[in-house]
Amino acid sequence: MIELTGLTKSYARGAVKAVDNLSLKVERGEIFGFIGPNGAGKTTTIKMITGILLPDAGSIRVGGADMLGEPVKAKRQIGYVPDNHDVFDRLKGIEYLNFIGDVYGVSLSDRRERIEKYLTMFGIADAAGELIRSYSHGMKQKLMLTGALVHRPPLWLLDEPLTGLDPKSALALKDEMRAHCREGNTVFFSTHVLEVAERLCDRIGIISKGKLAAVGTMDSLRSGEKDVTLEKLFFELTENAEDGV
Ligand SMILES: Nc1ncnc2c1ncn2[C@@H]1O[C@H](COP(=O)(O)OP(=O)(O)OP(=O)(O)O)[C@@H](O)[C@H]1O
Ligand SMILES: [Mg+2]
Repeated sequence: MIELTGLTKSYARGAVKAVDNLSLKVERGEIFGFIGPNGAGKTTTIKMITGILLPDAGSIRVGGADMLGEPVKAKRQIGYVPDNHDVFDRLKGIEYLNFIGDVYGVSLSDRRERIEKYLTMFGIADAAGELIRSYSHGMKQKLMLTGALVHRPPLWLLDEPLTGLDPKSALALKDEMRAHCREGNTVFFSTHVLEVAERLCDRIGIISKGKLAAVGTMDSLRSGEKDVTLEKLFFELTENAEDGV
């Protein structure tokens, strides 16, 4: 579903190498967790997968479509929720969702059914007629999650989706991530909540200083040491990189 090859991106005219020759494949039906310290390059990688940021080098394929060669075909397959919630403040929640439905060509009956389902699931149905400006941080987050699901994307791409969600909404989100994958779709998300990554993901990638430090199932990352937690692995793999080893 996602195929990244030699992905590289620098900022500040090359002074900061945010993502460094990163290659990674994520298959259909997987929940893939992307973890790493602050500044490791998660958001930069995710923004390149969406096509928002152009890589300096390397290629990105989403569902077989090349992001540079066939950007619309690649982007149609993605439902993206960014880590900030700069969403059209002057629209009402329902107007924003209908706008997304129009952009992705979702039929009126499908969108009505899905919008109702997700707004109810996240507990913000009552706020749909209000201006987004009046929403709390968590409500904006839930609105964007709903918007990303309105067009049933084969790839649900989420940058720190659990941040700011109350426990009930976090549970609803995790359940929906599982349900989305069960239907044959893919979920790729970044998080700092290692317990969630450990329990929820089919595979996990650990990024450190722009490089992929490890990738695999929890079992393969443990490499035989039965009781090792993801937290311990995280520190082992990312602290080595901090020391420049
Ligand atoms: N617009 C930008 N201009 C300059 N440098 C940037 C920019 N965006 C990110 N960086 C730098 O690129 C590196 C990777 O940042 P990125 O936001 O991808 O990390 P992250 O893993 O998402 O971190 P976090 O866990 O804090 O969200 C950092 O060194 C960051 O300072
Ligand atoms: Mg980030």
